[in-house]
Amino acid sequence: MDIILLGPPGAGKGTQAKRLVAERDLVQLSTGDMLRAAIAAGTPVGLKAKAVMERGELVSDAIVSALIGEHLDKSNGKGAIFDGYPRTGHQAEALELLLADRGRKLDHVIELKVDEDALVERICGRFTCAQCGALYHDTAHPPQVEGVCDECGSTEFKRRPDDNEETVRKRMAEYRAKTAPILPVYESQGLVREVDGMGTVDEVAAAIDAILDA
Ligand code: AP5
Repeated sequence: MDIILLGPPGAGKGTQAKRLVAERDLVQLSTGDMLRAAIAAGTPVGLKAKAVMERGELVSDAIVSALIGEHLDKSNGKGAIFDGYPRTGHQAEALELLLADRGRKLDHVIELKVDEDALVERICGRFTCAQCGALYHDTAHPPQVEGVCDECGSTEFKRRPDDNEETVRKRMAEYRAKTAPILPVYESQGLVREVDGMGTVDEVAAAIDAILDA
């Protein structure tokens, strides 16, 4: 099963993708995570992407589509959850070809419908475990013991440099201008399923499960 999770920054794509990986035999292909790994490793791709991401703009279509192709080949034919990709019409076309080359096609495009102002608060409160990547939020989902990761016990956490209000607003504008316009194409193919992304994590999860299990 190949699924796109589509929605603006903070819509909950990463949260739901990680849950689906834990519960189903799928891989999460997040271009944001791939780019952050490239930055941390100091690769040529990372060097190109760093400043672009810090400004809240989009990295080039060619770079992200190449990353997706590489990771599809490493995923042993498992179904994929595309998280944060595609983000432009060119990326949507590239994904169709990447899947077709491997004898695959999209099953669902799940659109997380959200209120943008609430998302700024969600994103600015977000942090992750520096060790295992578990996701937290200052108020909505803090660790059970303050300062200690629920998953691995680490006491080190980190915040993304692009998780500040000014950059988040820019990322949302990029979503409206470049990503939202790809939805009608998927709608015309009958692939889009809408989910209310403003419910609790469990409510959103249940709505996604109902679509995947239908
Ligand atoms: P990327 O890493 O993809 O970020 P994004 O799309 O901006 O999305 P986020 O990761 O911010 O949010 P999310 O929807 O995953 O929400 P999350 O689950 O974390 O991209 C970053 C940058 O990389 C881009 O700006 C661009 O520069 C570049 N890039 C990446 N892909 C690219 C591409 N394809 N093309 C070009 N450039 C690309 O949740 C957010 C917070 O809310 C968390 O704290 C979570 O705990 C909490 N939360 C989640 N769900 C709920 C809920 N239901 N209720 C309450 N709180 C919740």
